[in-house]
Amino acid sequence: MKTILILNGPNLNLLGKRQPQIYGHETLDDVARLCRDACPEGFEVDLRQSNHEGELIDWIHAARETTCGIVINAGAYTHTSIAIMDALNTYEPPVIEVHISQVHKREPFRHLSYISARADGVIAGLGLDGYVAGVRRIVALAQAGA
Ligand code: DQA
Repeated sequence: MKTILILNGPNLNLLGKRQPQIYGHETLDDVARLCRDACPEGFEVDLRQSNHEGELIDWIHAARETTCGIVINAGAYTHTSIAIMDALNTYEPPVIEVHISQVHKREPFRHLSYISARADGVIAGLGLDGYVAGVRRIVALAQAGA
């Protein structure tokens, strides 16, 4: 079984309740269900969320040996965390960066992403479909032997 890590950063535990006009009414459980449904046979997802930078980094380190790709929505750490970027740079399989909102249409401080300096693909503004696209991309790359 190949495992895809779906990593979510700060405040995404409140998805569905938090600024629904921007992030929608669906929850992280909905993200998990959609990502699971997008997996063909032989693939599974491990969805995690943390409000703590170090915990996200520990999970990236642990994923080095156990997963075939990471879909990451680092939340606001996207725009601040060199440490998460460095952790992703220790990780060899594909990394897809996802944002629910179209960050480039929003405040200028959301236009910079440290995650993009490592990511193999970047998706913004597709709502929860962005996670599904990320999972599909990692499945395709794993099946192609990437
Ligand atoms: C976000 C965009 C970030 O700027 C913000 O800090 C988030 C969520 C998104 O999914 O659109 O927490 O990553």
